[in-house]
Amino acid sequence: MKTKLLVLFAAAFTLSVTAENKFVGANTCVCHGMEKLGKQLAVWKTTKHADAFNVLKSDKAAEFATAKEIKGSPSEAPECLECHTTGYGKESEKTFKMDMGVQCEACHGAASAYKPIHNKPENKEKALAAGLIVAKDDETLCKTCHTPKMHDMKEFDFKKSWDVIKHPRPKA
Ligand code: HEC
Ligand code: HEC
Ligand code: HEC
Repeated sequence: MKTKLLVLFAAAFTLSVTAENKFVGANTCVCHGMEKLGKQLAVWKTTKHADAFNVLKSDKAAEFATAKEIKGSPSEAPECLECHTTGYGKESEKTFKMDMGVQCEACHGAASAYKPIHNKPENKEKALAAGLIVAKDDETLCKTCHTPKMHDMKEFDFKKSWDVIKHPRPKA
């Protein structure tokens, strides 16, 4: 009886530990640099998302921060980092680098649990259950950041914006 309880307790503990997926960072998504997979990593690097952290060091950033009476550098201000980085304030692994801006996991979910399994087509359902997000034609995701909460910005047009950052897998 005692052992059974202990096993149960251990199982519950393991579950609670793995419950929160951790961010691993775009630099670990190297397979997606491959041409035959659609080189999403290379496409992403050409987008402004890859520069979203660095832009917080610009004169314009300082201007936005001053207007909101934010003291210190915008690149250290939680008010700015929440949209200009990935999973700000959430758990991450050592491989994660905040200065890489709005990375894959900002849109596809923290990858620690799905990363080891999502490369196999037969694991598709399992990967989704482990936190992989594939938000087809869903602008809600974009609008969590593309909204003028901290500063003015262009009206968000999903179709046009998606066209700029799209990174499809090549058709087989
Ligand atoms: C709610 C999400 C969000 C927050 C919070 C936020 N930003 Fe932004 N920021 C964006 C988005 C989205 C863009 C791209 C705007 C566009 O498409 O017009 C952007 C663009 C910028 C740019 C580039 C503007 C340009 O004209 O080139 C700067 C600089 C910037 N943000 C600084 C800041 C600073 C500084 C803070 C904190 C005071 C901050 N942002 C907070 C979402 C956010
Ligand atoms: C700004 C949000 C965003 C970022 C950043 C982003 N993606 Fe995506 N990605 C999407 C959306 C939305 C789709 C779904 C489009 C669709 O279903 O046609 C997608 C589709 C994909 C697909 C194709 C899925 C399929 O089944 O065809 C792959 C692979 C992918 N992303 C990998 C990556 C990788 C790797 C990175 C980082 C290097 C990345 N994405 C960065 C939003 C993003
Ligand atoms: C985690 C926050 C976040 C999410 C989610 C996000 N973006 Fe962005 N996006 C930004 C920030 C911040 C910038 C500005 C970066 C810069 O200026 O360096 C930006 C810039 C862009 C730009 C360049 C705008 C310009 O004027 O050059 C496009 C296009 C874009 N995002 C499309 C999308 C689309 C499409 C989605 C949803 C599939 C999306 N973004 C989701 C934060 C986000």
